[in-house]
Order: sequence, then structure tokens, then C-alpha cells
Amino acid sequence: MPLVARPGIADCPLYVPGSHEVDGIAEPVVLSANENPLGPSDKAVAAYQAAATQLHRYPEGGAVELRDAIGKRFGLSPDQITCGAGSDEILTFLTRIFAGPGDEVLYSQHGFLMYPINAKQVGAIPVQAPESNLRTDVQAVLDSINEKTKIVFIANPNNPTGSYLTTEEMRTLVEGIPENVLLVLDSAYAEYVELNDYSDGSQFVDQYPNVVMTRTFSKIFGLAAVRLGWCYASPQVTDLLNRLRGPFNTTAPSQAAGVAAMEDLAHTDTARAHNNLWLPKLTNELEKLGAIVPPSVGNFLLAGFGEADTTQAAYEYMHKNGVITRMMGGYGLPEYIRITIGTEKENNLLLDVLSNFKG
Ligand SMILES: Cc1ncc(COP(=O)(O)O)c(C=O)c1O
Repeated sequence: MPLVARPGIADCPLYVPGSHEVDGIAEPVVLSANENPLGPSDKAVAAYQAAATQLHRYPEGGAVELRDAIGKRFGLSPDQITCGAGSDEILTFLTRIFAGPGDEVLYSQHGFLMYPINAKQVGAIPVQAPESNLRTDVQAVLDSINEKTKIVFIANPNNPTGSYLTTEEMRTLVEGIPENVLLVLDSAYAEYVELNDYSDGSQFVDQYPNVVMTRTFSKIFGLAAVRLGWCYASPQVTDLLNRLRGPFNTTAPSQAAGVAAMEDLAHTDTARAHNNLWLPKLTNELEKLGAIVPPSVGNFLLAGFGEADTTQAAYEYMHKNGVITRMMGGYGLPEYIRITIGTEKENNLLLDVLSNFKG
């Protein structure tokens, strides 16, 4: 008898990460994965390197120092923080804990692709709630909940649309969701948003045991390579996560880098200021070149060039000229390319290349 995988694994779509290479170009400009173009904090790199002298030792399994540093930085109880190998790992854990074969996992139409992938891996059914104008529609999400729904994933701001839900919209969502359904507020890009009507969602975790907020070190902290993420959850959900996660699921060098990153407030300020400068500037310049750019509050934006064919041609033209962006067909947006805000030099190169594109 041949081996048979559990339902959902063999037919699960593969997540295809953004490429970092272009044939014939030694150092392409990589604007495809929403990374921090300025890199990590020097202090985080030094801490990572210092940890390399102790590679024969297991890491501290509970990531105590890291959870303390996160708690201190964001004013949260370390007892309710769980760390993981990227927020991806946390999202996987939450799916495994709360959903199984035949259950429904709900997410917004153009939500992050790992939500349906995680759902399929446990044999659950991914269900999309329709969006309006590339924004999560709270009423549509609530209307899509039924007795099979076990988890609702909402990225805020959302990748790839760059749109966000206001605190009041979030409140409507939180209040409308049945208490037996887990609401995951994925705030991977929270540190970029400085708007008064935005909340990272932690306040709702304090009020509702079925709400979890996830965060990452991969974006503003510039530490995508070390794979570090975390979540803030009720004591009940935290306990379940601790039972499921491996005893050493985050590495010692990553934990050390994470602690230093949490303490380096200046690094975050610089990264945010860079984004605040370039997000509107790039939007403006792309619009001048004829692109449609929906409003974004993340470290990336969508650029549409009309029909899907023209958008694909623009993508290929940029790629051929050493600028790697991301086509959005997988997100149901074939007429858009997602572009990460790069360094000044990278952004200017992107604009130069595009200005020569004859769609
Ligand atoms: C909305 C969102 N959530 C989660 C992640 C996963 O981040 P990581 O696993 O690197 O923490 C990403 C990465 O692009 C993302 O865009």
C-alpha cells in the first residue's frame, strides 16, 4: 500500500515566495517581499553574531528575555506573548489548534495567501468574504460566518492591498463575531501606521478571549531571515499555543537579535520616517507615469497598469531590467503589481525603468 497523506496536504497549493534573482544581473533590486530596504538594526546584527559563540547550546525554550523585551516595548504582559519562527508559524499553530477537516476558515477576499494555505493543510475549507474597493468589508465578513466557521483571519493593514480597518470598524467586527470563533488580527505592518484611527488590535485581545494579535520581526525590524514572530493572546489561547509549539521553536541567535531590535527604538523611527517619505512620493510618481495606485498604509503599494496583460508586460519589463516586483494574480488581482518601498536609489531606479516602459 502506498503512503497516503492526510486530507489537504497533497493538494495544498505551494506558496511561491518572491524571487530574488534575475538572469544576467548580479545585484537586482528586490522590491517583491515587503522587507525593510534599510536592513536590520546594527545592534540586532551584533547580538546575533555574539550568540554564534554558543551554538552548541539549546536556546532558552520559553524565549523569556525576548517576550519580556516585546512586553516592555509594547506595554503587554509577557505571559500572554508567544514567539514563533516567523508569524507564519504562529498562524499555522492557530489554524491547527482551532480548525480541522470540514471546518471553514474565513478571510477577506484579497487577504494574505497563507490563510487559505493553512486552512487547506488541516483539511479545512478556506472561504473568502468579498471586499469592496480593495478594503475588508466588515459586514461581509460577519455575514459569511456560519456554524462551520472556526477562524477569521484579518490582516490590518492588509497585504497586498495596503488598506486598513479603523479601530471602530474593528470594534464592530470583534463585537459581531461569535465567541466560539477565533479572530486573528494579523498586524504584521502595524509599526508603519501612525494614524489616530488605527489600532494594532491588542486592546481587543484584552477584552475578548477569542481575539489574537500576531506580529512579526520580518517587516519594519528588518529581520526576515531570522524567522521571528509573536502573538498576544488570552491566557487560554497562550496555554494551547505552548502545548503545540516545539520546545525550542525559536533559535538563540534569533532571540538575541529580537531583544536588541526591541530595544533599538531609533532604528524603527528611521525605517518609519523613510517609509513616510517614500510611500507618498512613489505613489505620486507612479501615478504620473499613468499607474493606478490604491491608497496604502504599509511599506508597499499596488500599481495597476490597466489590463492584466499590460500589467504583466510592465512586470516583465521591470524584471528584465533588474527590478523585481510581484504579480498579484495569486491574490485575485491580475491587473496589479505589488511594489515594496525601497531605498532612495532603488525607488529612483524603478521609476527610471518604468518611465521607459511602453505599455
Ligand atoms: C500580512 C502578513 N502576515 C504575515 C506575514 C508573515 O510574516 P513572517 O512569517 O515573516 O513573520 C506576512 C509576510 O509577508 C504578511 O504580509
